[in-house]
Amino acid sequence: MTSEHQQLQQQASTPQHTILVVDDEEKNRLAISAVLRHAPILYTVLTAPNGLEGNQIAAEKKPNLIIMDWMMPEMSGLEALTLLKASEETHDIPIIMLTGFGSSKHVEAALNAGAADYLRIPVDKTELLARVRSAIALAESYSQIKEQSERLEVQNRKLRALNHEKNEFLGIAAHDLKNPLNNISDLARIIETEIENVPKSEIQDFARLIRQSAGKMFELVRNLLDVNAIEEGGIKPVSTEFDIRETINRVVESYTQRAMLKNILLHYSFPDEALLAFADERLTEQVVENIVSNAVKYSPSGKNIVVIVSEESLVEEGDFLRIEVQDEGPGISAEDMPKLFGKFSRLSAQPTGGEHSTGLGLSIAKSLAEAMNGKLRCESVLGSGARFILHVPKGYIR
Ligand SMILES: Nc1ncnc2c1ncn2[C@@H]1O[C@H](COP(=O)(O)OP(=O)(O)O)[C@@H](O)[C@H]1O
Ligand SMILES: [Mg+2]
Repeated sequence: MTSEHQQLQQQASTPQHTILVVDDEEKNRLAISAVLRHAPILYTVLTAPNGLEGNQIAAEKKPNLIIMDWMMPEMSGLEALTLLKASEETHDIPIIMLTGFGSSKHVEAALNAGAADYLRIPVDKTELLARVRSAIALAESYSQIKEQSERLEVQNRKLRALNHEKNEFLGIAAHDLKNPLNNISDLARIIETEIENVPKSEIQDFARLIRQSAGKMFELVRNLLDVNAIEEGGIKPVSTEFDIRETINRVVESYTQRAMLKNILLHYSFPDEALLAFADERLTEQVVENIVSNAVKYSPSGKNIVVIVSEESLVEEGDFLRIEVQDEGPGISAEDMPKLFGKFSRLSAQPTGGEHSTGLGLSIAKSLAEAMNGKLRCESVLGSGARFILHVPKGYIR
């Protein structure tokens, strides 16, 4: 391959830079353009006969570099330069000033006004090309740095927001731990100081209350550990094939008694043959338990809860098992709905049997469902109960 050939190929593959030459004298424009057009690097050259037109072209075409004559009628090069630097659109375009006067005062004024460089007239061809190359390279590095720092700024803002969320999270968690801890401490103090005066039966009550408070703390700590594990990517579901009917049976059995104590009936309907899921069995049970326990927790006396399992194919998403938990409780308002799966979202529905509420359960359940390639959502109209729908991927072989 000839070197000329190589040069042409190189020229074709590198992006072509555009240079705008602003000079009132035609012979100067032509001379500079000719040097640039015959440079080893291919440039697109634009020209303008005065500062005003030059600035218009600069705003419109965004050249990579402007070579600007100092001495021009109407608008001097320095004025044109000042205007270009003041405009957001053209601020970053490097400008080389051409000055006929050798005085360093002029050079200083040009650089102070934001010129990238200067050249003395008559222009030396080699020097012109060298300065053009370096001004463009410098401007390109500058724009890369600017882009990078903008990216960092965006990242920084995101991190600050996350940090703020973490602090908020810690604040709520600490607050939630404080109440039961206070109770435990108060009760222990009474036992310690009043042991002679307190009847044995009351001490037994205290012990029960202490255990209750400890239970609340355990629940919150368990939830916090779950949230932490999810956010740190520490939960790795292990998917296997299993019969979802057995999972749901276990959950329903463990909540039937609790529901009965609140005069709530828990129904469960499923087909006779096995319904295979392909998911993490333990985590699936945790998600189902979460929505069944909520239904029991938020339903008033005398209501029904129905758990229905079926198969469902979702367009473009595949085959799933659909586990639906429908209750006749207070339902969820349109206003509460967007917060339902958020963290610490204790919404308008209150536990109906004095149960404890952390507001973390559904956030964990949704993350777990999604980690197993499943989904969890809720349909509800305030006053007409809630329906939680869990989709887990369907299994095939047994
Ligand atoms: N089945 C339901 N019916 C009505 N409201 C519900 C139901 N399930 C959850 N909620 C509301 O959503 C909130 C968040 O639920 P969850 O994340 O499970 O936390 P927790 O049960 O610990 O409060 C609850 O405080 C409650 O107000
Ligand atoms: Mg809950």
